Amino acid sequence: MVMSSAPANFDGLVGIYRALEWVAFGRDLERARFIHLAQLQACRDILVLGEGDGRALARLLPLAPHAHVHCLDVSPAMLNRAAARLSSPDRSRVTFETANILTAHLPGRRFDAVVTLFFLDCFTASEVASVVEKVQASLRPGATWLFADFSLPARGFARLRARVWLSVLYAFFRWQTKLSARALPPSEQLLAEAGWCRIAECEFQDGLVRSVVFNQPGSRT
Ligand SMILES: C[S@@+](CC[C@H](N)C(=O)[O-])C[C@H]1O[C@@H](n2cnc3c(N)ncnc32)[C@H](O)[C@@H]1O
Repeated sequence: MVMSSAPANFDGLVGIYRALEWVAFGRDLERARFIHLAQLQACRDILVLGEGDGRALARLLPLAPHAHVHCLDVSPAMLNRAAARLSSPDRSRVTFETANILTAHLPGRRFDAVVTLFFLDCFTASEVASVVEKVQASLRPGATWLFADFSLPARGFARLRARVWLSVLYAFFRWQTKLSARALPPSEQLLAEAGWCRIAECEFQDGLVRSVVFNQPGSRT
C-alpha cells in the first residue's frame, strides 16, 4: 500500500494554466494532448484522470460520439472550468468526480480506455505504480491507455535542456500547488512493466514531451 500525502491543489492555477504553458512551450503540449485522441473513436466508456481545464475533453467528446466519459480530478475549479467548456449534449455524456486518484474507488472492469495527460508526472514512482494497478482493475481486456507527459531524453543537449526545464517545472508546481513529487517518475517504464505495449508515439520539444498510445494485449469484451 502506498502512503500518500495531501494531493496537489491546482485550483489557484485554473485561470492562468493555459497562458503559462503557451509562454513556455507554445502549442506543443496541446499537440501532445490532441494528437492521439482519435484512437478512442470507437470507445464506449472512457476514464479521464486529472483532466485539468477541459481542453482535451472538449476535443475528445466529438471524436468519440458514442462514449460516456468519467472524468476524475481532485480540483473542483479545474472540473468546473472543464464542464463550462462543453456544449450541453456533450456535457450530458460526462460524469465529473472530484476525487484523489490515490484514495478513490474505481468501478471494476468498466472502461475501454483511460486518458492521462500530464497527470502521472504529479506522482512519485510508487504512486504511479499504484495508480496503474488501480486503473487496470477498472479496465476491460484489450483497453487503450492514452498517455502524454514530460520525459527525459536519453542523451545530449536535449537531455540537459530537459533537466533544466524539469527542475523549473517541479519547483514551480511545488510552490504553487504543494505538489509532493520532486522528480519525473518512470511512468512509461512502469506501464511497460505492467504489460502495456506502445502502439503509437510522438515527441515534441526535442523529446521533452511525449505522447504515447498503449494497448493491453487481449481482446475487448
Ligand atoms: C499538471 S495538471 C494536468 C492537467 C491536464 N490533464 C493537462 O493536460 O494539462 C494535473 C491535473 O491533475 C489533477 N490532480 C493532481 N493530483 C491529483 C490526484 N491525486 N487525484 C486526482 N487529480 C489530481 C490536478 O488537479 C490537475 O488538474
